[in-house]
Amino acid sequence: MKPVEWNRTRVLVTGASSGIGREIALQLAAEGASLALVARREDRLRALATEVEADHGVTAVPVPVDLSEPGAATAIRDHLAGTPLDPPDVIVLNAGIGDTAELAELPVDRVGAVVDVNVRTHAELARLYLPSMIERRAGGILAIASMAGLQPVPYMALYGASKAFLVSLCEALHHEVRDYGVRVTCVCPGPVRTDFFDANAMKVDSELLAKASDPGNVATFAIDAFERNGSVSIPTFAARVMSWIPRILPRWLSGRLALRVMRQRMRAAESEAASGRGD
Ligand SMILES: NC(=O)c1ccc[n+]([C@@H]2O[C@H](COP(=O)([O-])OP(=O)(O)OC[C@H]3O[C@@H](n4cnc5c(N)ncnc54)[C@H](OP(=O)(O)O)[C@@H]3O)[C@@H](O)[C@H]2O)c1
Repeated sequence: MKPVEWNRTRVLVTGASSGIGREIALQLAAEGASLALVARREDRLRALATEVEADHGVTAVPVPVDLSEPGAATAIRDHLAGTPLDPPDVIVLNAGIGDTAELAELPVDRVGAVVDVNVRTHAELARLYLPSMIERRAGGILAIASMAGLQPVPYMALYGASKAFLVSLCEALHHEVRDYGVRVTCVCPGPVRTDFFDANAMKVDSELLAKASDPGNVATFAIDAFERNGSVSIPTFAARVMSWIPRILPRWLSGRLALRVMRQRMRAAESEAASGRGD
């Protein structure tokens, strides 16, 4: 497999308007990559495009698309057609949404939105752009899943299942396209200090937030994992140890443990919110 040369590589990043996606975009721009920046908040995408163009002299194209809409992947492809970013050499499947709640409490249309953003549109983007990567025998897919995709997590059942889809898809694709010289890497972070919890009104306690990783570090880890063509890569040592629990314990026991941990965390978050300490 040829080493990755980011200079002038065309990279599409979903969820580039904040958090991990924005950090990946900034770090790749510093290496000379051209960027297609996908998210809903167009003002943020434009500001980021202006910033990387000024700082690094790269081309950056804002692509304001709602990934939960039907046809979002083809809308992205149509938006990029005829631009210097077409077709992307590397796609970073990073955008994501999720909840900490019982599935039975979620609005019904939220179920479709989580699946559409985290799963459907990303799988469609992979389908749209893999043929040109295979033809050029280069490039690849870098997906940001989650530790929650490595085992069932009560109260995050839908989010975890959507990330498990991404893990499974990428792990299979990693082997499917490797002989074409195409990389596929799936990164599974534990908690990361981003807008994710607020944006999704998640219940998180201060202890979890204190342990959360820096998004810049997660971005650096993810880029490095892609460069060495890791298949499923977990950023921190603590998270790597946690990831072994469902492999060692019987499934029923690891599920019970996850239920207990989640109940404790949610109770702590609720009591902090009630006493004002969670603000
Ligand atoms: N933070 C964590 O603790 C953590 C842990 C493990 C995994 N992850 C995963 O890491 C990824 C990045 O999350 P983050 O922590 O960086 O959170 P974040 O700061 O909330 O970023 C999420 C990104 O997704 C975009 N997005 C959300 N809904 C979208 C939609 N309907 N259409 C288009 N874009 C949409 C957001 O942009 P707009 O709002 O502008 O559309 C934003 O750019 C996610 O897949 C998340 O599941 C996060």
